[in-house]
Amino acid sequence: MKDHIEALEAKRSESQLGGGQARIDAQHAKGKLTARERIELLLDHDSFEEFDAFVTHRAVDFGMQDNLPMGDGVVTGWGTINGRMVYVFSQDFTVFGGSLSETHAQKICKIMDMAIQNGAPVIGINDSGGARIQEGVASLAGYADVFQRNIMASGVVPQISLIMGPCAGGAVYSPAMTDFIFMVRDTSYMFVTGPDVVKTVTNEVVTAEELGGATTHTKKSGVVDGAFDNDVEAIAECRRLFDFLPLNNREKAPTRPFFDDVKRVEDSLDTLIPVNANTPYDMKELIHKLADEGDFYEIQADYAGNILIGFIRLEGQTVGVVANQPMVLAGVLDIDSSRKAARFVRFCDAFEIPILTLVDVPGFLPGTSQEYGGVIKHGAKLLFAYGEATVPKVTVITRKAYGGAYDVMASKHLRGDFNYAWPTAEIAVMGAKGAVEIIYRGRSPEEIVELTKEYEDRFANPFVAASKGFVDEVIMPRSTRRRVCRAFASLRGKQQQNPWKKHDNIPL
Ligand code: HXC
Repeated sequence: MKDHIEALEAKRSESQLGGGQARIDAQHAKGKLTARERIELLLDHDSFEEFDAFVTHRAVDFGMQDNLPMGDGVVTGWGTINGRMVYVFSQDFTVFGGSLSETHAQKICKIMDMAIQNGAPVIGINDSGGARIQEGVASLAGYADVFQRNIMASGVVPQISLIMGPCAGGAVYSPAMTDFIFMVRDTSYMFVTGPDVVKTVTNEVVTAEELGGATTHTKKSGVVDGAFDNDVEAIAECRRLFDFLPLNNREKAPTRPFFDDVKRVEDSLDTLIPVNANTPYDMKELIHKLADEGDFYEIQADYAGNILIGFIRLEGQTVGVVANQPMVLAGVLDIDSSRKAARFVRFCDAFEIPILTLVDVPGFLPGTSQEYGGVIKHGAKLLFAYGEATVPKVTVITRKAYGGAYDVMASKHLRGDFNYAWPTAEIAVMGAKGAVEIIYRGRSPEEIVELTKEYEDRFANPFVAASKGFVDEVIMPRSTRRRVCRAFASLRGKQQQNPWKKHDNIPL
């Protein structure tokens, strides 16, 4: 028996060494952790249970039959994060550059199948040279098998991708279909075709970092949800995000102990809105003042800053926040902000996370670049997402709610459950000056000033909407936390079903 145990231990040690010490050292020299070190940091201490540590590839070409590292370039299994179960795979760059073989893909598929069956999220750590070149089409098939599982898992269990090395070619499409993607600055990149191909095809000269680095994807493309300075920080933030999420679409997000007063009054909110309606203010201040302990987990902070998305807790329960940000482009809705918020609203709805919407929106951004870029379809995504969502929806209009954007931002007409307005709210078809210039075309500038004042007095307030029941109550800014908490508390038993359909046809 002793011999057997020693043999097992020896095999395990060999498997744990991946591609060997020299390659581990090379990985460290690049400022990267190994696949196993990343799992160690991600999961609770001693909670990792590994699958398939002894799996080897089946390739026989190019002398591969003589090179059979155990585990085949990916570490897979399950463990816990703050006591809650999660499946994980972590590609091992020290084994054939973390490239994906047929068996590597099978290992990933195995834990994804279990995650879907058992209702626990999947976190994928990507660090790979792409398709295992020696395996050809078997590797491509393996990718497609993973893609299919990403699709089946979508909306069933949360999926998170950490990009911690190369991720190129078709390989990017697996993370792209997951719910959240984090990258590490300077050591990771994602692109469909690399700089060399780009130069050959388009003559553009671009570095890998410029083409698909963390900054590019968090600021320009919006593909990625967060960028961090190193592996440790990215993993710590992933743990924080995980805590906000439910394990699957049949369970609610966890309720955490909270140390904040539900009735907390914030007098400073009474003066948050500037006297001049065109002066910006920071909507984040309101979010922080509403949240338990002021904690706001922002997603896509560097992209389409005119809308804010992220998670807070109210009475210990996760709430998704969507808020116009007057500090950026006056909080206008445009292509990027509509897409950003729409995907977030759909995530929240898929996983039964209630949505708080804070509105200060002057409308949709005008202009040829927006129209040519398809703002009609992109704006419709957000409209559609709100309208189909059946989770509890609470809306607070702080200032402007103009035009179609009023309808879009979780209005009463899109089945908003509680639609509050501050006394400073202006709910109208458009701003007073623009409206008057259209209705009273040709009048003198002095008359326009006077008529604008009249229009403002008549319409730039919440009471016209309130008189029609489109606003449920005009509330004191200082008591917003209490009102919103009570609203969500009253909605805990909400049940709403959409008509049966195979699936909808959201304007993609
Ligand atoms: C097999 C690979 C590999 C691959 C790297 N390696 N990529 N082995 N298949 N795709 C191996 C190398 O041979 C090397 O082995 C080790 O991994 C480390 O690679 P290096 O090149 O030394 O590392 P580095 O300098 O850091 O460069 C990393 C890299 C480069 C940028 C990823 O290796 C690279 O360009 N690889 C090829 C990428 C590629 O073209 N992949 C196919 C893309 S097409 P040794 O033994 O020396 O340590 C694709 C399609 C997917 O992925 C389609 C899905 C639908």
